[in-house]
Amino acid sequence: MSDIELQKKLSGEAAAALVKDGMTVGLGTGSTAAYLVKALGARAAAERLKLRCVATSQATATLAASLGLALVELDEAGGIDLTIDGADEIGPELSLIKGGGAALLREKLVWEASKRCVVIADKAKIVGALGKFPLPIEVVSFGHKTTALRICDALADADIGIAPRLRVKDG
Ligand code: A5P
Repeated sequence: MSDIELQKKLSGEAAAALVKDGMTVGLGTGSTAAYLVKALGARAAAERLKLRCVATSQATATLAASLGLALVELDEAGGIDLTIDGADEIGPELSLIKGGGAALLREKLVWEASKRCVVIADKAKIVGALGKFPLPIEVVSFGHKTTALRICDALADADIGIAPRLRVKDG
């Protein structure tokens, strides 16, 4: 296992140790969050923890369910005690970019509903200034071209000479 992979695994396991019996837990998305979900699944089974989990993506929901973690919808959760998620970039003063894995909207909704949020990441995520790769913005498909034009206007107003690019996965 590479250094980076080991850091992802160790941070996921350390974060899983923060979870207490009876908690409602927000589960992040990505390869680091997957280590958290696996460690939490193992802990929940070994210690018979009663947890309710809200997943930030279908991939995370599928993994959590396969490990026997109980899932609830955000609307049914009635608040989240602790959310643990990965990050794309960590800049100065813990500024953060998330959503590179395309789970941006769900991640933010879960994050906002949480009393406490913990970010887990390997050292490759630390940057001197945010913006190493294009910033993901999740929009609804209805009127997305109109939204793209508004984003163009906002970029032009800010003197930023790039145009948004539509990112599509699996159609
Ligand atoms: C998902 O949309 C992202 O915000 C991920 O949390 C982020 O990309 C980190 O992913 P890795 O843990 O796979 O690096």
